[in-house]
Order: sequence, then C-alpha cells, then structure tokens
Amino acid sequence: MKKDVILAPSLLAADFSKVGEQLQQIKDGGAAYIHLDVMDGLFVPNISFGTPVIKSLRACTDLFFDVHLMIDRPERYIADYVGAGAQLITFHYEATKDPRAVLEQIRAAGVKAAISVKPGTPVEVLKELLPLCDMVLIMTVEPGFGGQKFMADMLPKVEWLVKEREAQGLAFDIQVDGGVGKGNAADCVRAGANVLVAGSSVMGQPDLKSAAEEVLSCAKEALV
Ligand code: DX5
Ligand code: ZN
Repeated sequence: MKKDVILAPSLLAADFSKVGEQLQQIKDGGAAYIHLDVMDGLFVPNISFGTPVIKSLRACTDLFFDVHLMIDRPERYIADYVGAGAQLITFHYEATKDPRAVLEQIRAAGVKAAISVKPGTPVEVLKELLPLCDMVLIMTVEPGFGGQKFMADMLPKVEWLVKEREAQGLAFDIQVDGGVGKGNAADCVRAGANVLVAGSSVMGQPDLKSAAEEVLSCAKEALV
C-alpha cells in the first residue's frame, strides 16, 4: 500500500511581498507542508533566509513547517530552528561529521528528523541511519537553486529506500526535491516518494491554487 501524497511547495519561489496570501492559496490547493530552504552560502553557493523569516511566517499560517537545512555543520543551529517553528528538520549527510548524532539531536529537540543526500552521494550510505529517520530526502537537482531540471536518474535511490524500509520494518517518508512538477510527479510517486517539493512548478506560477491542485492530481494518478 502506497502512502498518501503530501505536497510541499517551496518558499524559495514565492513572491515575498505577498507571502501570507500565497501560503493561503497553496493550502487551498491541497498543500499540507511549506518547504523552507535555508542556505548558508557555504554548503551551497547561495544564501536564502534563516530563523527570523521562519518565525514571522509561523504567525500567519498553520501549514506544516518542513525546514531543509543546506548549511554546514547543522548541529550548531538545530535549537534555533525548532524555536522558530520548524516541525521537521532535514539536514545533509555531507554537511556534518556525525549524522547519527544530528538525527538524535533533532528528535531530542521534539521535532521530526530527516536526512538528505546530494545527487553525487550514494543512498546506501544512509543504511544504518534509517531507523532514526522520520523522512529521507532524495535531491533530484544539485542543491542551491530553484528552477533546475529534474534528474530522473535519482529515482532508483527512491526505489532502494522503499526496499530498505520494508527490509528493516520501518515507516519513514520519502521526499524528492528539485525540478518536481506535473510532468514527473507521477514517476516520483511510482518510484515510492510520498512527499513532493514543488518550487517553480507551484510557487512560481500565476495561479498557485490551481498549480498545487494540478501537481497533486498528477501525483495521485500513480496511486490508482
Ligand atoms: C534546491 C532547493 C529546492 C528548490 C526547489 O536547492 O532545495 O527546494 O526550492 O525548487 P524547484 O522546484 O524550482 O526545483
Ligand atoms: Zn529544498
């Protein structure tokens, strides 16, 4: 039985001058999460936003806060992001010396914990860490920028996770992030992903509500 699909539009592609309205529009279109991309200009060659922005958004929406930390040594900032309103924190396997300790730290802080691998990192490195994960994020672009082309050759990583989840008797969610939209959402779900990040394909569209509805309905075609 496949898990139901969760749509997580990315704030990175939002129009920050009307973000309150936009969050309501994606919610009306069926999104349950808002994906918050934090970039430090070090782990990735781009800078986005940090805790003050997340904290102020917390007051204007009840969407689930899915925080994607693309930062070096994330262990330094877990408490700050939990304090700002994160409900799930994803960090990168490549960004820390002790990923196990970071997963434990996130869970001990009272929120869901997730780990991500960049396209060049084999997913098998996560094998022993999976029991500590509430979600695993497979990057389908090189992290750092929105609007890039989806890498379909990352989907075998999703398929490996599905098998490993079964073999280890686990229940973590599987998220894909980067270039996801109506043209490939069903392929992602068919491979086994159940949380879809959508930046340009939803948050960058003129009508956010119908864009969210459309991506979700394409994704759900793979469930029937
Ligand atoms: C890229 C970010 C993504 C990005 C997705 O580093 O992690 O979440 O916002 O944007 P699109 O969907 O436009 O690729
Ligand atoms: Zn992201």
